Amino acid sequence: MLKEVTATRYITPLREGGSLPGLVEADDHGTYVMKFTGAGQGRKTLVAEVVCGELARRLGFRVPRLVTIGLDPDLGLGEPDPEVQGLLKSSGGTNLGMAFLSGALGFDPLAFAVSPEEAGRIVWFDALVNNVDRSWRNPNLLRWQGEEWLIDHGATMIWHHNWPGAEASAARPYDASDHVLAPFAPDLDAAADALAPLVTEELLAEVTAQVPDVWLADEPGFETPDDLRRAYARPLVARAAVVHDRVHGIEGVK
Ligand SMILES: Nc1ncnc2c1ncn2[C@@H]1O[C@H](COP(=O)(O)OP(=O)(O)O)[C@@H](O)[C@H]1O
Ligand SMILES: [Mg+2]
Repeated sequence: MLKEVTATRYITPLREGGSLPGLVEADDHGTYVMKFTGAGQGRKTLVAEVVCGELARRLGFRVPRLVTIGLDPDLGLGEPDPEVQGLLKSSGGTNLGMAFLSGALGFDPLAFAVSPEEAGRIVWFDALVNNVDRSWRNPNLLRWQGEEWLIDHGATMIWHHNWPGAEASAARPYDASDHVLAPFAPDLDAAADALAPLVTEELLAEVTAQVPDVWLADEPGFETPDDLRRAYARPLVARAAVVHDRVHGIEGVK
């Protein structure tokens, strides 16, 4: 399970992204980027953050630490911005927090270089989870202390929005032409050789166990949170074996 903390102070909204995450302070004195259960797509976005973030971490990528943040909706009472107040009021209970990397810069493909190996690993991972949100317009890749950190996996695994069609959806190819690392000659074959064998049922069981039950309960077609955890695991294990052949849109690759 992820560490549980409680929000003690709402600091400020982070307006860059679409989902209005906020910076909060918690009772462990940590500062977190908080993603709200009451925002836009709601809890599925948070499930995707945990499944993909914790999978990426176990595959060796740098991902800021994830926690769950308990929120008392009264924390929003003093907020002057009605949008923020509404979000806090509708997000009582369990939310997601990501350790705030103070001073991190957004990845700029014109300013930073990435090796074909690292570019290949990141593009391969994004193809695996079908991440459509790591483009040059919106890299969701931070540069912190000289290294790349992956953030924002809310727009992944499109198949979890329609479970009956999940298998067919997960068999589809991945278009990497807009990927922020497409210009860095990503070595997908090396990435697939190194990473695909790690994506096992056992690893996915460990990863999906990190998702809080409250975000998995009452999903139509699933009796228990564990049934839904297995549904998250299946397409990823299947896709890991084949996805490098289904990436298009980068040079040297069909
Ligand atoms: N862990 C973090 N450390 C520092 N800055 C962050 C972190 N997470 C997000 N940010 C900043 O906040 C912005 C919005 O967060 P993001 O997770 O991308 O949310 P959205 O779903 O709204 O796009 C990011 O583009 C980045 O600038
Ligand atoms: Mg983002």
